[in-house]
Amino acid sequence: MVDYAVPSRRALLKSAALSTAGLVASPALGKLPAGPSWSGDPFSLGVAAGAPSLDGFVLWTRLAPDPLAAGSAGGMHGPSQPIAYEIATDDSMHHIVQHGAALAEAEFGYSVHKQVHGLRPGRPYWYRFTSGRAQSTIGRAMTLPEHGADKLRFAFFSCSHYEYGYFSPYRHAAEENPDFGIFLGDYIYEYADKRRPTVRTHSGGKECVTLAEYRARYTQYRLDPNLRFLHATTPSLATWDDHEVQNDYADKWGEDFQDPKAFLERRAAAYQTFYEFMPVKPVFSRPHGPNMRLYDRYDFGDLMRVDMIDGRQYRSREACYGDPAKKEGHGGGGHQETPAACLELLDASRSMIGLAQEKWLFEGLATSKAKWNLIANDVLMARLHQKNPAGEDAFWTDDWDGYPASRTRLMLHIAASKPSNPVVITGDIHSFWANDLKVDFDDPKSPTIASELVGTSITSYGPPYELFNTFLPNNPHVKFFDSRKRGYVMVDLTRERLSARYQVVSDITDPNASLSTLASFVVEDGKPGPVAA
Ligand SMILES: [Fe+2]
Repeated sequence: MVDYAVPSRRALLKSAALSTAGLVASPALGKLPAGPSWSGDPFSLGVAAGAPSLDGFVLWTRLAPDPLAAGSAGGMHGPSQPIAYEIATDDSMHHIVQHGAALAEAEFGYSVHKQVHGLRPGRPYWYRFTSGRAQSTIGRAMTLPEHGADKLRFAFFSCSHYEYGYFSPYRHAAEENPDFGIFLGDYIYEYADKRRPTVRTHSGGKECVTLAEYRARYTQYRLDPNLRFLHATTPSLATWDDHEVQNDYADKWGEDFQDPKAFLERRAAAYQTFYEFMPVKPVFSRPHGPNMRLYDRYDFGDLMRVDMIDGRQYRSREACYGDPAKKEGHGGGGHQETPAACLELLDASRSMIGLAQEKWLFEGLATSKAKWNLIANDVLMARLHQKNPAGEDAFWTDDWDGYPASRTRLMLHIAASKPSNPVVITGDIHSFWANDLKVDFDDPKSPTIASELVGTSITSYGPPYELFNTFLPNNPHVKFFDSRKRGYVMVDLTRERLSARYQVVSDITDPNASLSTLASFVVEDGKPGPVAA
């Protein structure tokens, strides 16, 4: 962790549980308009902080006095609504260092994205919002540290499907007091599962397509107390994967062979809702139709650079998409392919993240002065030789195996530009992995040049454990695999080593599930490749 005065767990629990009903006590708010009189808690969806800079961060909330009201506006109507915010150096909000007005924008579902500046680097802050007599939970934010920081703790998460279980991994992660968390995608799921056992039911009982449907789905997730607690206590960085829009989509290509124009309208609704509900930058990430800039870079002093990449918006269409003979029940999107049967797999012009983002990522890696260089990535990067039903060597087209030329460009760039300690963190595959990354995965002499740590899902079902184990002898760069548990990864970082704990919960159908550590891996400074600890 940075030299942060991390509050005790009790203080965090107390602040996150605070009632919203009290009168506003702060003199800082005296000059603001009295605000409306609320019939319900306008802060029912909680608070969040993210996108830290050296002197600030983004504060988020979304006014929803009646969050489940029909029509998805959370009981809001009329023009944008000014509310007040306060920032303090203590978790009881006694020492307020900044206050002012923020706007809940009608155009974006009365969400607030307050870009804050003027604070000190490398420390936590606490904040709350006020409107009329209603006051939000107190949340914790952070600023990025300056050069010289020597410790960080962060968690990474992926794949929280509301229907399959309770979000106890989010609560356990928050209780470990990380400095921040990283969402790697599938923060929501767009469909409703009619096939597998569920303990909760998705809003509307069907797949989201419209803005109202995506808003109702995010509202349902944000009413989950564990997720709300995580956001209030833990600032976050976020990228997305496919299920924020639709399973296995690529750019404008959906998995159901939709007309790309119709799919882009759906993508616009989904991206707008992501923006409305996440603590992302208000100008930089503001959506424009179906386009939204999410990939971004964060420097934690010279200790760690984090490149948050977007693996969906700019990717080439999945290889051999749209061949009904190949669809295996998926329509478009991911499926197994053999290079012999799908020459498009090897087309060097195809890219996982688009050539412009590749250029941005490569420049960031080449110029980084950071001791650790993290790439926050949605889908499996290491090669995974699978066997198709015919027993042939095959690859999954939706992850980096479907874009081998793009991956090779990245690996060659890392090998040539030699950023210090490159580490890829990954979600999507609902299982833990620890992988060596190489320029040529099929050459045993190809040196390991980077590490990949893959976290399991928060609740989503894992891939078949026995089947995937049969793939491992053909994938010697895979040091660890387990798909049987749900949880997250907690990382403690120093200048000397990255230590990752693969944290698992006892049972996602138990709201009081307990926590344990399944495995631990370290990456030592200067020695690429995760090693069991
Ligand atoms: Fe997922």
